Amino acid sequence: MKQFKFDIDYVREQFPSLCKTVNGYPAAFLDGPGGTQVPRSVVERVNDYLYYHNANAHGNFKTSRESDRIFWESREVIADFLNCDPEEVSFGSNSSTNNFILAFSLLRIMKPGDEIIITEIDHEGNRSPWLTLKDFGMVVKEVKVDPKTYTLDLEDYKSKLSDKTKVVAINWASNATGTITDVKTYIKLAHEVGALTVVDAVHYALHKTIDVRDIDTDFLLCSAYKFFGPHIGILYSKAEVGKKLKTVRVMADDNTEIPDKFEIGTIAMEHAAGAAAAVEFIADIGRMHEEYFTDELEGLTGRRRLVVAGIKAIEAYEEPLARKLRDELSAIEGVTVYSPPEDVPKTSTVSFTVEGINSAELGTYLGDRGIFVWDGHFYAMHLINNVLDLKDQGGVVRIGLAPYNTADEVDRTIQAVKDFIYNNWRGNPLL
Ligand SMILES: Cc1ncc(COP(=O)(O)O)c(C=O)c1O
Repeated sequence: MKQFKFDIDYVREQFPSLCKTVNGYPAAFLDGPGGTQVPRSVVERVNDYLYYHNANAHGNFKTSRESDRIFWESREVIADFLNCDPEEVSFGSNSSTNNFILAFSLLRIMKPGDEIIITEIDHEGNRSPWLTLKDFGMVVKEVKVDPKTYTLDLEDYKSKLSDKTKVVAINWASNATGTITDVKTYIKLAHEVGALTVVDAVHYALHKTIDVRDIDTDFLLCSAYKFFGPHIGILYSKAEVGKKLKTVRVMADDNTEIPDKFEIGTIAMEHAAGAAAAVEFIADIGRMHEEYFTDELEGLTGRRRLVVAGIKAIEAYEEPLARKLRDELSAIEGVTVYSPPEDVPKTSTVSFTVEGINSAELGTYLGDRGIFVWDGHFYAMHLINNVLDLKDQGGVVRIGLAPYNTADEVDRTIQAVKDFIYNNWRGNPLL
């Protein structure tokens, strides 16, 4: 295979925000897991919708027909991102809202005493909607996470599954530790007891290829603002399951079909158009790097092939940078990195703490030097506060790579952490 070379210059040129400076330092956007930057093509698509095609749905006039077409075409593009049919793609405000809609829709076919399995590693967006159903008599069980490896305990999951289990809601990639869970195995086991499955792919999207047919989930959530798009949530619902459900929406009993039945009220169609442009941007990256992945792309055609190539190129570019972050940060005295072991697949998101230092203090120090990272729990609250017991520490500092980040930014960040520790770490024998 040809030596892989990522066209970082092309990618960076697409993001006007990257020219920002802070106190004279160039901005390094390492906050991607909270939301990525947005390329020109996405902003232009949103603008184009609002300037020329803005109308509510299903009218008998030009702009409304154009809007309907754009909205449907957006579903077609997202379908190639997920590997499903356009009718299986619904839009909503964000993934948390979509998940509440799903949870309360499934409540319509559940009865008190039915069981739901959630996990300790999940973001609240995939815990709270299901925990809320306890008020309606549902029993919610939580799969344990190993506090040393930051991975879910499959045996614990198996012990909680039974013919009472009706829903399994599981995380594909942790937005705190980057841990990727083998959701395919969890889904297969859930289906064996007749449960429906909901996969939270919000952090997974952009880092790895999503293939809903391959994992065979019934539902999947992701949010376009995590992969270059505007703020909008996407809900995949397997047609054979979605078609049978009554959801919660206006006139839900009126035989509204998928994908509309999961959409409440008027959707931000300009953001759906922008989400499609974001996927097309990933496909552009794929087009430029396709030649490196011909073996892995065998059998794939059209836009799906380019999307998969784009994600593979992003992965190949980010992997060595993430490895460097993990290796060099963990080598610093006083630093703990919360990444799963070598043999566990993970995203390019690296969280860490410094002994004796509140993470907000370090986050602010880096922010003042133009290095944008998150600190806290990012709503992976149960994991950070309870399992890892990091509440008093102010959670973790999270560095998240996106394909517009550079090796220089990674070096700068590692050096800034070292400088901070040298000046502030109270355990530093030199102070
Ligand atoms: C893993 C994960 N799940 C769910 C969510 C919630 O997504 P949204 O903000 O679209 O509701 C997030 C957001 O950060 C996330 O990282």
